[in-house]
Amino acid sequence: MVNKKIQKIDQALQDYYAQKTVSKELVDAILYSINAGGKRIRPLMFLELLQGFGLSLQDAHYQVAACLEMIHTGSLIHDDLPAMDNDDYRRGQLTNHKKFDEATAILAGDSLFLDPFGLLARADLPDKVKVSLSAELSEAAGTDGMVGGQMLDIKGEHAQLDLADLAKIHANKTGKLLTFPFVAAGLIAGLSEKDLSALRRAGELIGLAFQVRDDILDVTADFAQLGKTPQKDLSAEKSTYPSLLGLDKSYDILNDALDQAQAIFQTFAAQSSFDSSQIEMMIERLRLHA
Ligand code: IPE
Ligand code: IPE
Ligand code: MG
Ligand code: MG
Ligand code: MG
Repeated sequence: MVNKKIQKIDQALQDYYAQKTVSKELVDAILYSINAGGKRIRPLMFLELLQGFGLSLQDAHYQVAACLEMIHTGSLIHDDLPAMDNDDYRRGQLTNHKKFDEATAILAGDSLFLDPFGLLARADLPDKVKVSLSAELSEAAGTDGMVGGQMLDIKGEHAQLDLADLAKIHANKTGKLLTFPFVAAGLIAGLSEKDLSALRRAGELIGLAFQVRDDILDVTADFAQLGKTPQKDLSAEKSTYPSLLGLDKSYDILNDALDQAQAIFQTFAAQSSFDSSQIEMMIERLRLHA
């Protein structure tokens, strides 16, 4: 059950921060954003995939899931800062720097980027697997991943970007962290290089779809649905899929990427004992219809 999984992801996050004693103010700021009710899509996809590959879920798997959610939440805290997207609301409540202050929000983000590597290193998984997971997580998050993509995104404001520029921004700022759950599940399940590259491709497709979806929702959804201020991309003069291609074409690109990702899992299911039902359902829920 999905809710049970979210509860256990959340428990792994609470357990980790319950042991931290240096600054209660810092932990409070971290948990404010962690507990704000994110959808937990990345960790849930990771756990559904592990089960699809026939593994029974262990505490260590929930800790890996928590590591991913920590980096994602840190990326949102920094994304919202005045020097970045300058947002006042996130996950239906005030952004971290609005609730606390900028220095606290910067430091809460720093913690959420660094803490996962210790948590991962201490998880009860084979060392070889942990080294691979650690490399993948660092690369998905860092200079050639989310952070690099955020740099392109910020530098691309007020600029005339073409579709190739925009695809590169989306692939890095959002796509790389969304690819991690797919590759990580494959590494833990001990899959072949060939299967790992198919999973990476599926993750890239879903990563692109996810940011195109976020761009569409920025235009079409309201605060109650988003938990963040709508129409922000227009006011910041960001290039987005809707601004470059229009809404209709954006829906097509979203649904086409999701179709391709589902086809990868259908092939997996046909060629092995992989149970694709849950991941296919999660992908299906990302669809938007005009
Ligand atoms: C929002 O991610 C930021 C993007 C990468 C588009 P989510 O939509 O997964 O945000 P939460 O975690 O549910 O708040
Ligand atoms: C999110 O892109 C990218 C991150 C790496 C956090 P956005 O800036 O579009 O995300 P939202 O709309 O603020 O959630
Ligand atoms: Mg942004
Ligand atoms: Mg933003
Ligand atoms: Mg957005």
